[in-house]
Amino acid sequence: MIEGIGTLAIVGSGVIGAGWATRCLAWGLDVVAHDPAPGAEAKLRDAVARAWPAISQLGLAAGASQERLRFSETLADAIGDADFIQESAPERIDLKRKIHAQIDAAAKPGALVASSSSGLLPTEIQADCSRPERVLIGHPFNPVYLLPLVELVAGKKTVPESIERARAFYAGIGMHPLHVRKEVPAYLSDRLQEALWREYLHLVAEGVATTDELDQAMAYGPGLRWAFWGTGMVFHLAGGEAGMRHMLEQFGPALKLPWTKLEAPELTESLIDRMVEGTQAQAAGITIAQLESQRDNALIAVMRALRPFGVGAGKTMADYEARMFEAVQSKRWQPGETPDAPLSLAEGFVRPDWLDYNQHMSEAFFVTAIGEASDALFRYIGIDEAYRAAGHSFFTVESHLNYYDQGHLNQALAYETWILGLDAKRLHLYHAILDRDSGKTLFTAEQMLLHVDGKAGKAASILPEPKAVLDAIWAVHRNAEPPADAGRRIAMQR
Ligand SMILES: NC(=O)c1ccc[n+]([C@@H]2O[C@H](COP(=O)([O-])OP(=O)(O)OC[C@H]3O[C@@H](n4cnc5c(N)ncnc54)[C@H](O)[C@@H]3O)[C@@H](O)[C@H]2O)c1
Repeated sequence: MIEGIGTLAIVGSGVIGAGWATRCLAWGLDVVAHDPAPGAEAKLRDAVARAWPAISQLGLAAGASQERLRFSETLADAIGDADFIQESAPERIDLKRKIHAQIDAAAKPGALVASSSSGLLPTEIQADCSRPERVLIGHPFNPVYLLPLVELVAGKKTVPESIERARAFYAGIGMHPLHVRKEVPAYLSDRLQEALWREYLHLVAEGVATTDELDQAMAYGPGLRWAFWGTGMVFHLAGGEAGMRHMLEQFGPALKLPWTKLEAPELTESLIDRMVEGTQAQAAGITIAQLESQRDNALIAVMRALRPFGVGAGKTMADYEARMFEAVQSKRWQPGETPDAPLSLAEGFVRPDWLDYNQHMSEAFFVTAIGEASDALFRYIGIDEAYRAAGHSFFTVESHLNYYDQGHLNQALAYETWILGLDAKRLHLYHAILDRDSGKTLFTAEQMLLHVDGKAGKAASILPEPKAVLDAIWAVHRNAEPPADAGRRIAMQR
């Protein structure tokens, strides 16, 4: 259940509907889909299965499963129990109006209804509904399961409460809801994309450049900046110290030059041929599935790279992970509780990006898994974002890893943690990462952590609250039999 939403209905399960289904299943919701096209169910299940490895890299919520997807042959059955209905049918106003009238008749009174439309006006979409106040635009971006942006647009009869409820739900499934305050065709992002697209078509139509050259012109330069800033901030810096004012003075005259046309060119047969031939040449020898996989992995890498800077989708990713972590691993020590020896605070699984070319878990990700086990311990003892934001945290100063077995894709992992030593500033830790189902140890790690005051830039005493929990754990662990390989050192028999 996320913000009161337990079941989501998908009406129209093409590219976008399947993307919504994947995202919501990954967040542990039940999804019911309806699409009248022959073979739609198989196509949808196939699309979700293809996207699953990518979304798994971001982390799956407790209970997330592709098996929680149900397909229904009738629209009324699909949406009868849904708390949220996301319509993703073809972009035709007559069709959308008709479908929304059907949804209106069959949906529960409290259900919210959103359309994925890329540019139609919500006032027109809700025109034939008896409960138009709950109908809004929730415009996502492809692939919906990775890209965070969703534009919310109210029609004349949508009430603010519906926007607020939708905003909370979309944020709850790891998205970045953006409220488009005025109802305009194509909303915000598609107006910007469309302006660029029209110019792109002109340049191809006039033989100025090929699709490949234009894609290079975007990907190697402006596109990299757009991953985290919009044109506003990018051009603010283009003006140097004086910022936007200087930028406008310097480049303002160019606005009068014939640099762009904006009016779309005629979509002639020859332009269509050039566009198709150009993109086919760019994608020669690569299947759509391979391109999707490349796009998904690259998007995840970009979002991960932006994470430490707290900008753009990197910030959404940090929030997503915190929320996921909170939901899956919110185990906190309770006063008076006797800690277990060892502590079992977290579980994980071997993700697709953890594998090397042999399809075994690659060395670097053993450390990632150990990091997850440490994070679970930190949460247990009450070290959270607020603690870190105040400048306090642990730094790892020494590690010793022992590898016992290989990890393989999607293998369920259980993490066990011991405290082997503790004083005012130092924490001597030991983690064992096990195959959750067999209990077999895959690898272990022993680490020395130093508590630091990041603002002062030096080692500092652990603050009293987490220290009290660590003392309670240490009181139990110091009297328990330590793990057999604890204290090992690397040495050869002579
Ligand atoms: N493709 C994109 O990049 C993108 C991005 C954002 C938003 N959108 C919007 O999402 C919506 C869907 O686009 P798409 O790209 O997924 O199209 P699509 O053609 O891939 O899928 C549309 C699906 O709707 C189904 N459909 C047809 N009639 C229906 C009916 N009466 N009831 C239910 N389903 C019906 C079709 O069988 C098809 O599977 C459109 O409004 C589009 O503007 C698309």
